[in-house]
Amino acid sequence: MRLSLASLALLAPAALSIPLSDDLDDTPLPLVIWHGLGDSFAGDGIKEVGELAEAIHDGTFVYTIGIGADANADRSASFWGNVTEQIAEVCAALAAHPILSTAPAIDALGFSQGGVFLRGYVERCNVPPVRSLVTFGSPHNGIVDFAACGPNDWVCKGAMALLKTNTWSNYVQARLVPAQYYRNTDPETGGPSEEYLEHSNFLADINNERVLKNTSYAGNLRKLKNFVMYMFEDDTTVSPKESSWFADVNLTDASVTPLRERNIYKQDWLGLKTLDKNGGIVFKTTPGKHMELSDKVLNSTFKSFFGPFKSKAERKLIVQNQINFEL
Ligand SMILES: *[C@@H]1O[C@H](CO)[C@@H](O)[C@H](O)[C@H]1NC(C)=O
Ligand SMILES: *[C@@H]1O[C@H](CO)[C@@H](O)[C@H](O)[C@H]1NC(C)=O
Ligand SMILES: *[C@@H]1O[C@H](CO)[C@@H](O)[C@H](O)[C@H]1NC(C)=O
Ligand SMILES: *[C@@H]1O[C@H](CO)[C@@H](O)[C@H](O)[C@H]1NC(C)=O
Repeated sequence: MRLSLASLALLAPAALSIPLSDDLDDTPLPLVIWHGLGDSFAGDGIKEVGELAEAIHDGTFVYTIGIGADANADRSASFWGNVTEQIAEVCAALAAHPILSTAPAIDALGFSQGGVFLRGYVERCNVPPVRSLVTFGSPHNGIVDFAACGPNDWVCKGAMALLKTNTWSNYVQARLVPAQYYRNTDPETGGPSEEYLEHSNFLADINNERVLKNTSYAGNLRKLKNFVMYMFEDDTTVSPKESSWFADVNLTDASVTPLRERNIYKQDWLGLKTLDKNGGIVFKTTPGKHMELSDKVLNSTFKSFFGPFKSKAERKLIVQNQINFEL
């Protein structure tokens, strides 16, 4: 990569200190945020979260992901679009961004579906690499039911009506975002349904549930330092709520199979077992319904997982094999 003088001036010092110096500095890593369904990058809640992150770690560069030309287009893209193409667009934007692309690593914070999409970013791209991925109420194991829309939310109602008619058609899978993380099971075997394995445009791929595994997904995910999954205790929007912990739920008797007892983990399809052995998987709950975020929880999360590199070992873990500077 060639850096112009202008882009050098924009660089956080941390980016340059990696190849040039052995000292740790106290520049916080940039933070990338992806909002949930029906929200936009310009939403008040999302802005406040970014401001809080900057208040906790002074000087944090916060980048809020948006798709399309403006906030309306971005909100619409949370319902409509091909998630594979959306993630590719985000990968390109992050890799070309003057600050993000030159930082030694970034942190990532995803709300609801945005958390699953950020995991997709890590698995498929991860340039710049993510240190801590924190997700709040994100359906990592999919949803079995579609969200209820607000009474006058016609964008949402239109999307959900189309969804229910033919979830597994290519037409719906290519266009409706929530359909791409819908997952149902075979009542006989308890495993994912044939339709899901065959037609899911996003989740079945990103969770490596098909026979052919993409080994680079595991290779990238296990490079994280922290993968923190928050479940809202009274979540009724993400159904089942245990999907936020990557667990599987038997819909007949509501019994929960935790991630650590599932094949996806035991056979390490995603590198999660390796990551867990390194202490990198953190399960947390937070009181309230879907997206009822408390500043207290956000503050402590930001303190624990974001900010500057906490040690040389941490920096080495994230940066080794990733440095590609042509300085
Ligand atoms: C695995 O995923 C990467 C990133 O999306 C892609 O470039 C590659 O072609 C995939 N490999 C296979 C075998 O599908
Ligand atoms: C979604 O986009 C990807 C990349 O362009 C494409 O390969 C895939 O077929 C699309 N999905 C559907 C269901 O059309
Ligand atoms: C789900 O629970 C029911 C009731 O306990 C049980 O009969 C059934 O075998 C379970 N399904 C799977 C796939 O494990
Ligand atoms: C969260 O952190 C901000 C910034 O330090 C502080 O102003 C606020 O009082 C904190 N809120 C809580 C509930 O701890």
